[in-house]
Formats: sequence, C-alpha cells, structure tokens
Amino acid sequence: MKKTIALLPGDGIGKEVVDVTVEVLKSVAEHFNHQFQFNYGLIGGDAIDQKGNPLPEETLEVCRNADAIILGAVGGPKWDQNPVELRPERGLLALRKELDLFANLRPVKTFESLLDSSPLKKEYVEGVDFVIVRELTGGLYFGKPSERIDYNGEEAVVDTLFYKRAEIERILVSAFEIAKTRRKHVTSVDKANVLESSRLWREVAEEVGARYPDVVLEHMLVDNAAMQLIRSPKQFDVIVTENMFGDILSDEGSMITGSLGMLSSASLSSSGLHLYEPVHGSAPDIAGKNIANPIATILSAAMMLRQSLGLEEEAKAIEKAVDNVLNSGLRTADLADGGKFATTTEIGEEIKNALADDYEIINIIN
Ligand code: NAD
Ligand code: IPM
Ligand code: MN
Repeated sequence: MKKTIALLPGDGIGKEVVDVTVEVLKSVAEHFNHQFQFNYGLIGGDAIDQKGNPLPEETLEVCRNADAIILGAVGGPKWDQNPVELRPERGLLALRKELDLFANLRPVKTFESLLDSSPLKKEYVEGVDFVIVRELTGGLYFGKPSERIDYNGEEAVVDTLFYKRAEIERILVSAFEIAKTRRKHVTSVDKANVLESSRLWREVAEEVGARYPDVVLEHMLVDNAAMQLIRSPKQFDVIVTENMFGDILSDEGSMITGSLGMLSSASLSSSGLHLYEPVHGSAPDIAGKNIANPIATILSAAMMLRQSLGLEEEAKAIEKAVDNVLNSGLRTADLADGGKFATTTEIGEEIKNALADDYEIINIIN
C-alpha cells in the first residue's frame, strides 16, 4: 500500500518525538510491505522564524495532499511575547480550523506495566479505559471578540465563548457513535449551572441521546468531573465536552496512565483528512535532552494507521511492541517507577526491535 503522510514536527520535543515515530513507521512499512511517503511541513515557532507565519500556505498544501497528518507540538518561551498572530499556538489553532478537525479523541487507558507510575493508588487506576471526546474548533478558543478593551476608561479584556447548535450536535453525535462501539455510556461534561452555552449543550445532548436508546447519557458539571477523574476514574467510558474543558481534563486524565507523555490523540475532520498528535506540548523544560517520552506520538501513529489508513494489523503491531517494551521495564524519566531508564531514541529503537521480533514470529507461524 502506498500512502502519503504529512509530518509537522513543530517545536521543542515535538521534533524529537516525531523523529522517533517516523523510524517506527519506516520499520512498519518495511515489515508489512507498504510505501509511506513522508512530506514535511513547518508549523509553530519554527515556521515563524523561517517564514514569518506560524502556518505557512505551503504547510497547508503538504497537509491537503496527504492521506493523514502527524504533528509533534508547537510553542516555547522564545515566542511567548510575540503578538497574537505570531504565536506558535496560532498555527495549530488555524490548522485545526482550516481542516475542520472538530473531534479530538483522547483515549486514557492504563498499561498493566505502568500501574505503579501513576500518582494514584493502583486499585484506582487498574482497568481504567475511557476516551475524552473534545470539541476542537469552537468555544472560547475561537470566539470573537477576543481582545483587550477600554471599558469606560478602565483596562479590560474580553474572550467569547461561542457555539453554533450544529457544532454542538456534531461532536455529541461523534461521542455517541464511539460509545456504541464501547461500553455504551456517555458522560457529557458542562457547566450548565452557570453558562448559557452549557445549557444549550445539555439540551442538544438530550436530543442526540434520544437517538441512541442503547447508550446511557449522564450529565456532569465540569468541577465535579475534575474531582471524579481522581476519585473513581473507572466510572467513565466516553466523556464528551467543549474545547477548553476537554483541554484541561485530558491533561488531568493523563496522570492516571502515569504520564502526559503516554497520551495519544486523533483529531478527526468532516472531510476525512485527519490529524494525529500527542496530547502534550513542546516541553521546553526537557527539550534537546533526548529524554522526552515518545510513546504518546508513537501511539498516535498507531491511531493513524487504524483510522486513516485502514491498517488494523499494523496498528496492533505497534501497540503490542509498545506494550512489550514497557513490560521489559524500560522507561523514559517521566515514568520513574523503579524501571530501567532509557532515552527517547532508545525507546524508539526498542520498539523497532520488538516489532521485528514479532514479525519474525509471524513469519515462522506462516
Ligand atoms: P507541556 O505539555 O509541554 O509540558 C508539561 C510538563 O509535562 C512539562 O514538565 C514537560 O516536561 C512534561 N512533558 C510533556 N510531554 C512530555 C513527554 N513526552 N515526555 C516527558 N515529559 C513530558 O506543557 P507546557 O509546559 O504547559 O507548555 C509548553 C509549550 O507547549 C507552550 O508553549 C504551550 O503552548 C505548548 N503546548 C503545545 C501543545 C501542542 O502543540 N499540541 C500542547 C500543549 C502545550
Ligand atoms: C493541546 C494544546 C493546545 C490546546 C494549545 C497549544 C493551543 O494545549 O493540544 O491540548 O489548548 O488545544
Ligand atoms: Mn492541552
């Protein structure tokens, strides 16, 4: 199979984790006899430095001509004082909007071998398996106005939380469709006791829920949800929520697995061109040291193989290789739990070796 994959490494550890992921994908291509064409694009701080634009038109073209997109992360202190249109994050937000990547799936599933890596007690995290369905192209992130204002002579600021009914409806439909394939439980998270946007969200959730009689719908206020994620994370199957709440809850949820460096994601679009990215950022505090955990990005690539390229066996092979490496005790520093310390590139190499071992076994059986 011949496929084109757009690679947008971005800034900081984004480059390091994408490099390792590409090596893993090359190894998958070799073992399974595929041809993956990798086309690179600039985004974020790097794109600002080289092109004066956090999302150059060439990058959009690279994406549009691909079967799927892998992104590392954007941002860093170098650009934090830039005007808003020259911030790295602006590039990522513009890309999400431009490609209509409205449904961000963030699975939170514990690994048996990492139960001691979570700051939560083992009995609370063992068996956790839920997915956060985060609305990604609306809400506070995109509402206008968003600016500093003069308010009767006083310095003031306004951000706008804006949603069209149709935007709320389509993300809820995505969540219910996913729930149908899982344990059939949707928790819709909002702040309906305060926000009008959340009251419309709840109304639409009820309407969409009525179309899925086999799926249980529960509403939960976001402050309670933040607490319940720690108190009893096993209660969740599918969490669906608006953009900002989903951003915050997913970083919180990552610690159930032991590290933000473990959490993968898929941003699905209306057009069928999807983007895959780790949940974490560019981690300036550890960038350039070869110590970042590449697994979030490698697992995002597995999601890409499954969802965008229809390569289920290949996706499973990566997931199994990751599992085998973690079972062997190797870990990046973020997962310090008494395992053996490994660098970013060593973890990548070990995952490639695990893939190769597995492939040999498959060949022998056949
Ligand atoms: P961050 O996710 O980059 O890092 C938070 C903490 O987690 C840091 O201590 C970091 O070292 C650690 N961490 C993150 N990923 C890790 C990994 N793979 N392995 C080991 N440790 C890891 O969040 P931040 O520090 O708040 O933000 C830094 C920059 O990244 C900001 O400019 C922010 O805007 C940007 N950001 C980008 C994205 C994205 O591109 N999708 C996501 C989040 C943050
Ligand atoms: C994420 C990030 C982004 C977001 C930032 C970098 C714009 O935190 O992908 O979770 O808030 O969506
Ligand atoms: Mn985030």
